[in-house]
Amino acid sequence: MNAVIRGTGACTPEKVLTNADFEKMVDTSDDWIVSRTGIKERRVVSSGESNSDLCFKAGQNALEMANISAEDLDMIIVGTVTPDYYLPSTAALVQDKLKALNSAAFDVVAACAGFLHGLSIARGFILNGNVKRVLVIGSEVLSRITDYTDRSTCVLFGDGAGAVVVEAEETGDQNGSGLLSSYLRADGSKKELLWIPIGGSTNPITPHNVEARERYIMMSGNEIYKLAVRAMCDAALRALDQVGINTEQISWLIPHQANIRIIEGVARRLKIPDRKVYLNIEKYGNTSAASVPIALDEANRKGMLKKGDYILMVAFGGGLTWGASLVRW
Ligand code: COA
Repeated sequence: MNAVIRGTGACTPEKVLTNADFEKMVDTSDDWIVSRTGIKERRVVSSGESNSDLCFKAGQNALEMANISAEDLDMIIVGTVTPDYYLPSTAALVQDKLKALNSAAFDVVAACAGFLHGLSIARGFILNGNVKRVLVIGSEVLSRITDYTDRSTCVLFGDGAGAVVVEAEETGDQNGSGLLSSYLRADGSKKELLWIPIGGSTNPITPHNVEARERYIMMSGNEIYKLAVRAMCDAALRALDQVGINTEQISWLIPHQANIRIIEGVARRLKIPDRKVYLNIEKYGNTSAASVPIALDEANRKGMLKKGDYILMVAFGGGLTWGASLVRW
């Protein structure tokens, strides 16, 4: 049995925030942002636009490419840290919007690694023979949890959604297409390096703290930076090791688009040349769980992914959480 990606999709909001816009909001410059992060612009939702709206459109696009109807889905998994509500899950809202009448639905909270966690769960369910078709989405509206007075974080984040349809394929072909391996890890002891201290059940929003900066993303960027490179390289090598593939055999590295310098550091350590690294960070910034599936969909729709290609996806984020997945296209 293989778990094969049949279709990809994405949805990014229309509204664009450029570096020039940030020059008017905080003490920053286009030059600083581009040289430190690689980001030129990012998309943000407009009022009334929700995470589940983005998921719905990305999911529809992926289903259309896969030529699979929503009613044929057995499971919908949404990786997100910016759900529409605490209750219900965003995946349940997507199930309703898509009219996926025969589907289970749940969210996965693993920050920027959320999509890779979802993909790994989908693969497990499929290989166990429990389900046949899973829609895996990574989607965020980070603009709703970003402090637009904090120049060290606000320039980094954007909104968007990416999706894949994964389907079971009965085959004895060991060289067929499919999700080949995955490696996931976490380190909760470092939660304070990237978190939102208030607003959850430990420290609920009260009339006294409603204006506090702690209800937005707080990050120790420099420390995250160093940990991210090391962790993503380790996860990548472990995912490759599971199936005896080396980095020279990789056709595409599709990394979490957090910072151009992190991506370059990962590629350099893994000895993967620039031409094999898919980048779109300059257009979208860091969209957390959405960044890998948006990049995968872009590369796919541009015809850059060929049958038989080994595609390595890696991500790192708050939790801390990180992981890697290997796919043969
Ligand atoms: N514009 C101008 N100056 C800025 C700025 C901005 N937007 N943001 C921070 N600075 C300033 C800092 O205040 C600091 O000034 P100081 O030296 O006077 O104190 C200086 O730039 C250097 O700050 P530092 O945090 O050391 O910069 P950096 O080179 O580490 O880059 C990040 C900052 C956030 C871009 C970088 O650490 C990063 O990308 N980290 C990973 C973040 C990430 O991707 N997280 C998501 C999870 S994967």
